[in-house]
Amino acid sequence: MLFHKKASEIKVDDRLSHIAFIMDGNGRWAKKRSLPRKAGHKQGAVAFENVVRECNKLGIKTVTVYAFSTENWKRPKEEVDAIIGLLNSYIDKVDKSKDIRFIFLGNKSVLDDGLRNKMESLERETLNCSNILNIAFNYGGRSEIVNAFNELAREGKTDIDENDISTHLYTRASKDPDLIVRTANECRISNFLLWQCAYSEFYFTDTLWPDFDKKELYKAIESFYSRKRNFGGIK
Ligand code: IPE
Ligand code: IPE
Ligand code: MG
Repeated sequence: MLFHKKASEIKVDDRLSHIAFIMDGNGRWAKKRSLPRKAGHKQGAVAFENVVRECNKLGIKTVTVYAFSTENWKRPKEEVDAIIGLLNSYIDKVDKSKDIRFIFLGNKSVLDDGLRNKMESLERETLNCSNILNIAFNYGGRSEIVNAFNELAREGKTDIDENDISTHLYTRASKDPDLIVRTANECRISNFLLWQCAYSEFYFTDTLWPDFDKKELYKAIESFYSRKRNFGGIK
């Protein structure tokens, strides 16, 4: 039977060097328990930390998480403030001895100075670490591409090729994701990694993000390894 592997049986190799998560379902998790939506985000932050730790243990070199989209500003201020507060307290307690380079994907310029400075110092302090954790915050795939083109224009670049675009995206330090996981029974991309997902494998699960634990992670990985990736060729 599929999907009952133990941790010791889960082996990750170079085929899965980058895994990305659309962490969805925090609100529904809270609603099910008659709790305020922000309680779902709080539990979602716990799941995030556990999943990142587990990916690191498995030797996955790059992890990307979608934490806040350019469209999420449409939500009530109280909820937005709660999410920003969670990012703030997470940064304060980050363990910098873990060989993880932190990169924030998205437009930081609209965030308050205190938070932006903290994000930028964490990026600087971990610059030479070998694993990457990309946290997409105030991130939108379209705005990322527009930003790349504007940078190229400012550099006076013409005859733009694919590599020029890839190297001007927020994700320039990372390879494209091998696997994109979305929780909470939604099968859409919601403006995430639009350029980078060209040949990513997708894994969708009904599990709500706060319930996404290491067993769920193993299921996603097992599913990934059952896929045949052709990249347009014949194998
Ligand atoms: C994902 O959970 C977290 C963010 C988008 C910040 P949601 O808050 O979207 O949860 P649902 O989709 O309402 O359940
Ligand atoms: C996507 O989830 C954004 C994040 C997980 C941060 P949403 O809940 O915002 O996506 P939609 O609105 O359902 O597409
Ligand atoms: Mg949602």
